[in-house]
Amino acid sequence: MRKILVTSALPYANGHIHLGHLVEYLQTDIWVRFQKLMGNRCLYICADDTHGTAISIRAQAEGRSEEDLIAEMSEAHQRDFAGFGIEFDHFGSTNSESNREVCHEIWKALCDADMVTEQEIDQLFDVSKGVFLADRFVRGTCPVCKSPDQPGDNCDKCNATYTPAELIDPVSTLTNTTPEVRSATHLFVQIEKLHDFLDEWTQSGTLPPESANYLKNFFLNEPLRDWDISRPGPYFGFEIPDSPGNYWYVWFDAPIGYIGATQDWCSEHGESLDDWWKNPGTEIHHFIGKDIQYFHTLFWPAMLKTAGFSLPTKVHIHGFLTVDGEKMSKSRGTFIQASTYLEHLDPSYLRYYYATRLSSRVEDLDLNPEEFVSKINSDLVGKVVNLASRTAKFIQPVGLSEVYPEDDGLFETFASQGDAIAAAYEAGDYSKAMRMIMELADQANPYVENNAPWELRKDPEKAQELQDVCTVALNLFRTLVIYLAPVLPELARKAGELLGEELDSWDLAKAPLVGQPIAKFKHMMQRVDPAKIEAMIEASKEEAPEPEAATPGNWEDSADALEASPIADEISFDDFMKLDLRVVRVIEAKEVPDARKLIQLTLSLGGDETRNVFAGIKAAYNPEDLVGRLVVMVANLAPRKMKFGVSEGMIIASGPGGKDVFLLSPDEGAAPGQRVG
Ligand code: MSP
Ligand code: ZN
Repeated sequence: MRKILVTSALPYANGHIHLGHLVEYLQTDIWVRFQKLMGNRCLYICADDTHGTAISIRAQAEGRSEEDLIAEMSEAHQRDFAGFGIEFDHFGSTNSESNREVCHEIWKALCDADMVTEQEIDQLFDVSKGVFLADRFVRGTCPVCKSPDQPGDNCDKCNATYTPAELIDPVSTLTNTTPEVRSATHLFVQIEKLHDFLDEWTQSGTLPPESANYLKNFFLNEPLRDWDISRPGPYFGFEIPDSPGNYWYVWFDAPIGYIGATQDWCSEHGESLDDWWKNPGTEIHHFIGKDIQYFHTLFWPAMLKTAGFSLPTKVHIHGFLTVDGEKMSKSRGTFIQASTYLEHLDPSYLRYYYATRLSSRVEDLDLNPEEFVSKINSDLVGKVVNLASRTAKFIQPVGLSEVYPEDDGLFETFASQGDAIAAAYEAGDYSKAMRMIMELADQANPYVENNAPWELRKDPEKAQELQDVCTVALNLFRTLVIYLAPVLPELARKAGELLGEELDSWDLAKAPLVGQPIAKFKHMMQRVDPAKIEAMIEASKEEAPEPEAATPGNWEDSADALEASPIADEISFDDFMKLDLRVVRVIEAKEVPDARKLIQLTLSLGGDETRNVFAGIKAAYNPEDLVGRLVVMVANLAPRKMKFGVSEGMIIASGPGGKDVFLLSPDEGAAPGQRVG
């Protein structure tokens, strides 16, 4: 029996759980349930991530304490998770005494290992609020291209990266006042001291190959950068010992929360923490999204290693959810909260749908409403539940045959697939497991069709045959349900009631059930009603009034844009001609891992001429949607070296930035390479 500790990332306490989050918590819950079904000892630990500036700001805006806010969120999160059948062994909070203690322990180890240094950092300070401003609470004019109203860390227009203190005319978005530059001492962890260890660990098969390959680059040329883990107060978090007025940055105490929450569970159950976190016999599996790899693959192992805790056996990394091929959007109603879903649809549907979409690869997955309907209706209701609903009623009250009947080897085939399906679950290849299970279901249904129990029952002479056919069908159904149990625990529970047996072990699928009375058939799963999906999307639409179609002469265009950015100083025609604008076609577009805002574009000027451009448009566009379209680029801009590569130009767009970026495209007929002017 393996001993396995499993975690999902700790959800932020400043927002509700949505369908994007659920990709991860369902993925993890399925894995945990699979392990338990296999008879392994498995502990599923999670907690709310409660610290940091965003929580304070939300609490202040709502006129209450942070403690009050996080208590309410914790309840809401747990209610949502439970609604989807996500069963933690323990759900804690990073704002707990147990977590504070583990933070102290790990901190002391880092200090003892001489890994902590101090550096003076210039940071913007909001005088009226009395707080240092995190990057995302500052906007101002880009120090490089002078575009107004840019974010605190990098420019949406020219992609330059800078510190908020370098912005021209910075403004605090909290108070709309001008912040001051103040210098403060920050504490840094020198993970470079573990360079060789981390290099080896990240390549040791612990991570998906995509992630391991990506990380390779970090170790090649440069030392690993020191990690700034302190924030000057006021800050909602834990104060750092021997450094009064300084707090651990939320990302320091968040992963430690995995251990803190385990400690709470251990205290409640009289177990020892070391048995889980310092025991080479215990496996540790983290499930996380690709956006937070950094923290889990560099900083976190460095902390664990230094403080003598076990290192993760495996970090399972998933991609992001899109809905109908697009980023979740509040105005389209595809930013769907867990609680809204539950008001309209059965959680089993989503559990199964995600399972059919998840693999062990770090790739995004799409929730396509039509496919959602057809998968549930044809796979689950049509192929699986139907096996029982068409047969159970005919062997009531006689029950299953005493001896398992001849079935042309069907049961044997079903049983023999158990190992392969289990291997797919183990590897996180749920889509493969679902495919294999449905292939079996495809063999079971013709058996029922061919033997037509509804005909047999008309002939009293054929009572034994009827009982035998139903015994086979129900046993095949039972095997399918056992294989689906990690994904569909509710179905397993109901099937168990029907069969008078708890379907709580994978091994049950090895032998048929015989001589057992059958309970009255109760409905197990309804078909999806597409109208309910519509209603859910409608209910998720945020009151963003659609712009009314204007009548000619009455365009009602606002003056805001021009006021925000008045027309620039006059230039000569020659000046204008210096600018070489070209029509280009996007022939490749991909995300830049770990660059929150960038998409890397390959632009074709026709023929073999291409340019590589990094554009800060990730919040507004999906890479896939850009491929093939024509846009306009500044073709003779000096190349700029960025952290991720060289950008050879710039594409033209309007809008204030973030999600509101609008690419310019030429009218039909334009061709790549043509000059614009
Ligand atoms: N609080 C941090 C994690 C700390 S772990 C020590 C955090 N919280 S989060 O609420 O933003 O995200 C929680 C998890 O949900 C992350 O692993 C994240 O990748 C995942 N997802 C959030 N939105 C998602 C999608 N739209 N799609 C798929 N997963 C997503 O990050
Ligand atoms: Zn700029």
